[in-house]
Amino acid sequence: MEGETSWVSHCNYNFSSKIVEFDSFSELNDENDKEVAAVSVDLILPDDLLERILAYLPIASIFRAGCVCKRWHEIVKSKRFLWNSSHVLSQKPWYFMFTSSDEPVGYAYDPILRKWYGIELPCIETSSWFIASSCGLVCFMDNDSRSELYICNPVTKCYKGLNEPPGPKFSDYSALAVSLNQLSHSYMISIVKSKQVPGNFFQWDLSIHLYDSATMTWVTTLTEILTGWRAGDESVICDGVLYFLIYSTGGGAPENRHGLITYNLRNRSPHGLLMRSFIPVPCSLTCGRLMNLKEKLIMVGGIGRQDRPDIIKGIGIWVLKGTQWQEIARMPHKYFQGFGEFDDVFASSGTDDLIYIQSYGAPALLVFDVNHKQWKWSQKCPVAKRFPLQLFTGFCFEPRLEIAP
Ligand SMILES: *[C@@H]1O[C@H](CO)[C@@H](O)[C@H](O)[C@H]1NC(C)=O
Ligand SMILES: *[C@@H]1O[C@H](CO)[C@@H](O)[C@H](O)[C@H]1NC(C)=O
Ligand SMILES: *[C@@H]1O[C@H](CO)[C@@H](O)[C@H](O)[C@H]1NC(C)=O
Repeated sequence: MEGETSWVSHCNYNFSSKIVEFDSFSELNDENDKEVAAVSVDLILPDDLLERILAYLPIASIFRAGCVCKRWHEIVKSKRFLWNSSHVLSQKPWYFMFTSSDEPVGYAYDPILRKWYGIELPCIETSSWFIASSCGLVCFMDNDSRSELYICNPVTKCYKGLNEPPGPKFSDYSALAVSLNQLSHSYMISIVKSKQVPGNFFQWDLSIHLYDSATMTWVTTLTEILTGWRAGDESVICDGVLYFLIYSTGGGAPENRHGLITYNLRNRSPHGLLMRSFIPVPCSLTCGRLMNLKEKLIMVGGIGRQDRPDIIKGIGIWVLKGTQWQEIARMPHKYFQGFGEFDDVFASSGTDDLIYIQSYGAPALLVFDVNHKQWKWSQKCPVAKRFPLQLFTGFCFEPRLEIAP
């Protein structure tokens, strides 16, 4: 099995209390949190029953259960357990919030137990690295040379370093995306690079590079020159299609400052035809964030004011149906105001049926449940703003024990 070797070489499978819980910050009186105990039960239960019971625990408790005794430890780290437990409880996606711009430190938020956990991320060195995630895997790329690339499971800390991607070494913009195939467990990573044609302000070299974990190689599938547009750092893969935002490089009407490009990864469109897939954004945006919710493309966007399109007046959420955007929600005013000063650009990511939205200027985190059309603040993150210009960012990922790169 592919990934078998990396499991051995890079998995410090340590189930001791790497997950630190911040109960003191939790306002809930959590009844579920009583110690998993009853040694006598433990003596009577055969392994397979114990295994099934443990499989119903939330992920953080599974880590703690692994510390109870040698037998439990053996069970929770066995592959059989990991695979079976993954089908028992569907874990909602977590949000990792960075609390420093220099170090890759922060807390992960579990929306089911409404708790923050201190987890250490492998590989990444600062929060300004590029980050993409899919189904339990998270991909990191450094933001200087853009040649260091890792794929990891942030919960188990298994990781793998990847070869340097091809294409221009010092591109002006890069957009990273990853997509895991849940059946084969192979994954694909895409990087869209944009580099200004020297001496020409309107023309940009755009290239698309794909990594396939099955062949462990990179292929440059498209290079093209765009006129008046460049790509940025927003991209996502949904159902075999790569989507990325492009940005107007010259004047133009405000509603035309952003656009969406679609690139089918199965029958890759030939060179020179990329702009044919152009889809305008639904309104004038201050920024747009793309995400994959159950293989559908979702965009969270800052809506610009009519008179001053640079100034954010609200936040909308759209789903792409064919080539049309359909609005699914708009952030209610009280939440929008709840961030205090909302920046024109902000962080937002989501997966499954949850969308997280976070202002760069505050450690507040808002969660939108797409199924229930429900907005909710997260529990307060155990971090305080230390200086006025401190920036907060983060990313969403699925906590899964059984997925390894
Ligand atoms: C597991 O983690 C704990 C705490 O981080 C550490 O003290 C211990 O040495 C680690 N054990 C192994 C085998 O890595
Ligand atoms: C799941 O557990 C059952 C018994 O509880 C076992 O027979 C089966 O092999 C396990 N599945 C996997 C994929 O390991
Ligand atoms: C990469 O670095 C540039 C320049 O410092 C910054 O503008 C950009 O936001 C960074 N990208 C990410 C993903 O943080």
